[in-house]
Amino acid sequence: MLSPRAVVKSVPRYHPPLADRDGLRLDFNENTVGCSPRVLAQLQKLTADDLTRYPEREAIEARVAEFLEIDCAQLLLTNGVDEAIHLLCQTYLDPGDEALIVVPTYSMYRIYLSAAGANVISVAAAENFDFPVSAVLNHVSPRIRLIAIANPNNPSGTVARREDLLQIAKSASDAAVLIDEAYFEFHKETLLDQCHKSGNLFVARTFSKAYGLAGLRVGALAGHNDQMRLIRRVCSPYNVNAAALACVPEALADAEYVREYVNEVLEGRTRLEQVLAECGIPFWPSQANFILARIGSTDQDSSAFVEEMRKRGILVRDRSSDPGCLGCVRITLGSREQTDRLLLALGEVLQHLPLAQGAARP
Ligand SMILES: Cc1ncc(COP(=O)(O)O)c(C=O)c1O
Repeated sequence: MLSPRAVVKSVPRYHPPLADRDGLRLDFNENTVGCSPRVLAQLQKLTADDLTRYPEREAIEARVAEFLEIDCAQLLLTNGVDEAIHLLCQTYLDPGDEALIVVPTYSMYRIYLSAAGANVISVAAAENFDFPVSAVLNHVSPRIRLIAIANPNNPSGTVARREDLLQIAKSASDAAVLIDEAYFEFHKETLLDQCHKSGNLFVARTFSKAYGLAGLRVGALAGHNDQMRLIRRVCSPYNVNAAALACVPEALADAEYVREYVNEVLEGRTRLEQVLAECGIPFWPSQANFILARIGSTDQDSSAFVEEMRKRGILVRDRSSDPGCLGCVRITLGSREQTDRLLLALGEVLQHLPLAQGAARP
């Protein structure tokens, strides 16, 4: 029988619960109202000729670089942040190298790192999910070749300080240090301005979240020119499809659309925080478009909560099996009207299930 590479057998399985997602989707941190109408109009204009040709990334890459105010040699468009992570693994990791993540965090880091044959070192965040900068610095050694940090982090929504991230990049000069800014639009702080100064710092962005284009699969990876040249070597020339490339300029041009959506999400985040606080449900202050809340003290509590919300047409994500997240659910915020629906259902469910009393306050 055909066998895979030895490491493939140890790659953790990841089955995102994507089936049966009818209802208000507050479970995947997507945009909950859809992309800008300008993007849809552009998609409708695509012709057979546009689709027969292999996609050309460069012109759109230049447009995105201009938008991000960086040199286009510093930027690579990718098939989502996921491909950016994969490309970093392909470029920098040999089997047996060490790679570091801070847990809990985005599941795909471990998958790509393990698939590359790296030994993954998981540094636990503090109990309140504060970023464990000293612990990360203590682990830095020449064996560590890649460090992946989501900022804001998923699922906690918490952030690391700019100085701490820069200190890590400086100390870990033998490692590619990825700062994954998938939720940048909700946090508005970035290290993009530092990429040309540092030889090992990378920043990833995505069109999957605030821009509402998760289905098109477009992200961007920025880093020092010299490093980006190496990463391009392992990247397919056609990694971003023609439909996605055609839509990116329209998505960027409709800045007003993104601004308004983000404002509604931030307003919703404050409203949900207030309700959780009033109900005595522990949660972590988030800088992203979601909140992690400790809804109970066991995984039965969180799954019962998710189920009760589902019965009311609202999908939220059980994160109880993530490190340090027992009894936790992650709730994505959306528009004003969607937040009204969320809070109504939340009120009902909390009456129905008296959950959080036993849970420890973050
Ligand atoms: C921290 C983080 N990075 C990356 C992604 C995936 O981004 P993309 O859709 O661009 O691959 C997610 C999606 O949930 C995420 O939470």
